[in-house]
Amino acid sequence: MTTERYFKGDVFHTPTDGQLEFLEDALIQVDSSGIITKVTKKGDNDYETDCQLAEEVIALAKGQCFLPGFVDLHVHAPQWPQAGVALDEPLNVWLDACTFPLEAKYADLTFAQTVYEDLVMQLLARGTTTVLYFATIHLEASLLLAKICVEKGQRGLVGKVVMDDPNANPDFYRDQSTDSALKETEQFIQSVQQLAETAHQGVYPVVTPRFVPSCTDAGLAGLGALAQRYDVHVQTHCSEGQWEHDFVQARFGKTDTEVLKDFGLLKEKAVMAHSNFISSTDGAHFIEAGAAVAHCPISNAYFANSVIPIRRLKAQGVTIGLGTDISGGFSPSLYDNIKQAVMSSRMLEDGVDAALDQMDRGVPDSRISVIDSFSLATKGGGEALKLPIGVLKEGYAFDVQVIDSCHKDNPIPDFGVFTSPEARLQKILYLATMQNIRQVWVQGKKVHEK
Ligand code: GUN
Ligand code: FE
Repeated sequence: MTTERYFKGDVFHTPTDGQLEFLEDALIQVDSSGIITKVTKKGDNDYETDCQLAEEVIALAKGQCFLPGFVDLHVHAPQWPQAGVALDEPLNVWLDACTFPLEAKYADLTFAQTVYEDLVMQLLARGTTTVLYFATIHLEASLLLAKICVEKGQRGLVGKVVMDDPNANPDFYRDQSTDSALKETEQFIQSVQQLAETAHQGVYPVVTPRFVPSCTDAGLAGLGALAQRYDVHVQTHCSEGQWEHDFVQARFGKTDTEVLKDFGLLKEKAVMAHSNFISSTDGAHFIEAGAAVAHCPISNAYFANSVIPIRRLKAQGVTIGLGTDISGGFSPSLYDNIKQAVMSSRMLEDGVDAALDQMDRGVPDSRISVIDSFSLATKGGGEALKLPIGVLKEGYAFDVQVIDSCHKDNPIPDFGVFTSPEARLQKILYLATMQNIRQVWVQGKKVHEK
């Protein structure tokens, strides 16, 4: 008896950065651990034979297709109740007045469970199969988030947040000491690694200083040492806005990137949220270290005081993926962020102040296409996390969203006019809503159906 399973339908993905590959009526073979073992498409030599040999094929209906599951590189799980709130305030007011009092509530595990279960389901229902999460400073509640990801079938990478500087953080929401922050981080790493033994789709601990301004030098150094010793992922906010950029310069006389590098935090499997203010020298440090940028375009429109030059950084060779930054970004949908990344890049290219001469208004060669942006949300995310996800090819996890362009509640018709693969994908990326996401699979297991 075969342990392989077979899925059949049109596939859109970007195995090469920004380049759409369309596989017509592809046959995808998946092994018992949820890994793709072979993909053939109409016209390939083996295709007809493989189709004849395949048993119990799950075949998509007309108007349906497979997209890779999205990879969200930056979510603050505890901020889900705050989505959409107080965004008219600057970052420091938003954090002090709303976010820290909210995050402090996660000392209560019942509250944490209610919010975290809802969030994981909401993200899965929007096609997001892998998420890099900030939790809170609380060890227990952070561990609970990791457990909920495992239970709901999402691939979660979770960090217990460190905010150990008593002079930088409110007394009601900070680590009690540098020592306790480091001990609890180590305990968290060990507990999640133990949990991972039972997680089919993987669950990963992440070393998570909130950002340089909230941590002491000893805290940052200790976290860097833990990240190296356990060889785990790292995440933080890096050069997000003018204030942070200037604050770190004033404290260290260096950029965020240089400081993170010096403390051993800029490394393989490190994902730096935002990074709007990084220079090309900083970009070279990212490349050398194997670190990546989590671009959060909706959040950036509120808090980053700038548009990050994605196209320039990509051309330099920096690895970049997309993040929602719930709740600096109000939307839990990477579809919304894919669109915003395109729109922000267009505004960077053209400029925004019509009082300036057209030649002085923008930054030439900054625009990205919606296919580039889709590539960031899939392949880019997988590369950032150094996991075989985001592309539907042999050796990669079968993480997919089944999109239905004919759903009665939100049909996306082409009227027989815009039928090329590129136009079909463009229409899905711009017009699909939750209604069109009929199924979501993570590593060969169905985790959402509507
Ligand atoms: N910088 C430090 N903490 C945060 C946060 O929670 N959200 C955002 N957008 N920036 C931060
Ligand atoms: Fe953030």
